[in-house]
Amino acid sequence: MKFERSTGVSKALLRNAATLAALTALLAAGGARAAEGRLMPGNVPAAYTQECASCHAAYPPGLLPAASWQRIMSGLGKHYGTDASLDAATVQQLSGWLQANAGTYKRVAEPPAQDRITNSSWFVRKHRKIDPAVWKHVSVKSAANCAACHTGADQGVFDEHRLQFPAGLDARYRRPWND
Ligand code: HEC
Ligand code: HEC
Repeated sequence: MKFERSTGVSKALLRNAATLAALTALLAAGGARAAEGRLMPGNVPAAYTQECASCHAAYPPGLLPAASWQRIMSGLGKHYGTDASLDAATVQQLSGWLQANAGTYKRVAEPPAQDRITNSSWFVRKHRKIDPAVWKHVSVKSAANCAACHTGADQGVFDEHRLQFPAGLDARYRRPWND
């Protein structure tokens, strides 16, 4: 009887611990740090994939601070040299979602120059071994074209297991892919 009661208690404790772990994972998945290296939150609005991933990858909201998303979403008519205008309701919906899921980590707290992910100091550091010629190569075109090298970019997966070496790139640039 004593034994049964004590196992009952420890089971309850275990259940609580499991609930806590599940909650932590859920909360983390909504922010910049997501379970299993996925940076994209689970609740991506259909309009985000349709409207914001037609010209480039669907950037995970956690890669920029809320202030950057707010500026980007209020200036879609002049979006990095192009017109990415949307109707007011969609702007409001996406702007709210982006800001709610924006990065809050220290490394993404500061709005980078031009509100570009690619100008963030963590981005520059992570890609410091890549030769500048690589970004300009025809198969890459720009550092903003994450999917040229990160095959899981649209799911917010940027780990080293999902890296590809762009076709046509000279093998001498390969070192950062092998590290
Ligand atoms: C008509 C095409 C087009 C659409 C639609 C579009 N973008 Fe862009 N976006 C661009 C271009 C072009 C750039 C600059 C890319 C470059 O420098 O290589 C850019 C850059 C960005 C950057 C900065 C990337 C960097 O350098 O780190 C962000 C963030 C961004 N877009 C977010 C969005 C969001 C959010 C939406 C949807 C509301 C959106 N874009 C829709 C064309 C578009
Ligand atoms: C020209 C290819 C290329 C492009 C384009 C590129 N990356 Fe990378 N990225 C790499 C390589 C290669 C590494 C590994 C570098 C190393 O280990 O030295 C890397 C590393 C990373 C890492 C660190 C992964 C880890 O596990 O430490 C993140 C995060 C990342 N990239 C995000 C992005 C995002 C976001 C974009 C687009 C805005 C992007 N990258 C564009 C090639 C690229």
